[in-house]
Amino acid sequence: MTWDVKIINGKVVSNGDVFEADIYVKDEKIGAVTTETLEGESAQVIDAKGKYVMPGLIDTHVHSRDPGPTYKEDFAHSTRAAAAGGITSVFEMPNTTPPVNSPENFDLQQQNLQQKAYVDFGLWGICLGSLNLEHIQALNEKGVIGFKFFWGYAVHKETFQLMYNYKPGMENVIPPFDDGDVYEMMEEVAKTGKLFAVHAENNDLIQKLTNRVEEQGGRTYEDLVAGRPNLAELLTVNTGIEMAKATGVRFHVLHVSSGEALESVRTAQAGGYPVTVETCPHYLFLSNEDYPEVGPQMKVYPPVKYKKDQDAIWGGITDGTISHVCSDHAPHTEEEKDGDLWSIPAGMCGVESMAPLMLNAVNEGKITITDFVRLMAEEPARLFGVYPQKGSLQAGTDADITIVDLDKDMVIKREDLHSKSKVTAFDGFAVKGVPTETIVRGKVVMKDGEITGEQGYGRLIKPVAEKAGQTQA
Ligand code: NCD
Ligand code: ZN
Repeated sequence: MTWDVKIINGKVVSNGDVFEADIYVKDEKIGAVTTETLEGESAQVIDAKGKYVMPGLIDTHVHSRDPGPTYKEDFAHSTRAAAAGGITSVFEMPNTTPPVNSPENFDLQQQNLQQKAYVDFGLWGICLGSLNLEHIQALNEKGVIGFKFFWGYAVHKETFQLMYNYKPGMENVIPPFDDGDVYEMMEEVAKTGKLFAVHAENNDLIQKLTNRVEEQGGRTYEDLVAGRPNLAELLTVNTGIEMAKATGVRFHVLHVSSGEALESVRTAQAGGYPVTVETCPHYLFLSNEDYPEVGPQMKVYPPVKYKKDQDAIWGGITDGTISHVCSDHAPHTEEEKDGDLWSIPAGMCGVESMAPLMLNAVNEGKITITDFVRLMAEEPARLFGVYPQKGSLQAGTDADITIVDLDKDMVIKREDLHSKSKVTAFDGFAVKGVPTETIVRGKVVMKDGEITGEQGYGRLIKPVAEKAGQTQA
């Protein structure tokens, strides 16, 4: 027996435990995690002394703009950025042009991303109301990771791109779907057993309140939040929870930004309903108070809210209400973001800076290293039905491994990012804790910040529906 890779001397983090063990890899799979020295030569030996060795990190929320507005980002860039940031799998969002709205477009997207991927990937399917209700079951059979609905967004009639600053009456626009449409989508997705995951912001309220602040001449960040307040998220989350109770769909709240919406999810979970929620680093590490320093790059939907929301969201991380942390990597160009807060698009890069930010939180004592692995690898894999193939170190599963140096200092710098766009709210953030190796199915795709992987190596991940949602909690 010869081994492909052997990782020695590291501290392994898995299922709430930290222990010293070596990891043996053969034919893209974990061979063993053991304290014994196994027989056989190893083609590659990685000395992880002083480092933590864990299941490969998963980013479940990535918008790579590919195909479509690839001048902002493309899949080669976003998956290089992922590799650089310790991420071994990304789940690609479906708001591309064309969107992943039909089985044909699923196949096209798989072929397109396949040639570019540095890491493994799952594909989200989009829900576009009556426009693709008939394709939901076929998308499920193709192997989408889950179904995404941009609740509250209008989309462009031809490209299906999101309208970030929508006003009723705009031309070539499909206006936001109404609650009846949403109910119908939930009924359809419920049959698949997969997640119905929503961007949760109530358009009616946003229109009314945004018009009101505009009439008063308000154009500050506080005005933006006043136009898209916590209530906008809460209304949608509450409506969604009630409809999920009625339809039996597994309801997932994407990128929660407010304490109130989180509290609603917590209550629903206590009642035994299958409602889950994620958040992102910008809601954990930023608040409205950071806007004067960060500026328009910070504009994201839902907007980053107040310090009290940031504190509440940390509470959801520590008590387990929040299943996992993902980036909502949503690049736009510097020129697009460098304008009036009111007219620029929402979103920023995140896939590369997420793990360092969360490792810094480990060093600050906000979470433990086992929490980190739960939030970034184990729970995302369980929630989406790819566990234990992904998110575990079990023998026989994919050898996706992230190695981190918790003592290493780094300053996040926009110019160092591997994405096409360098738009980040975290430029100049000093962190302690950095991924030093990213290993995808036994292949080292990043070492000490250098990309060592190859374009086209990444493969599609398909979930096992029956396994989806078997979360730890
Ligand atoms: C995302 C995008 O640009 O694709 N933008 C954002 O502000 N989060 C869309 C989304 O997830 O809402
Ligand atoms: Zn969103």
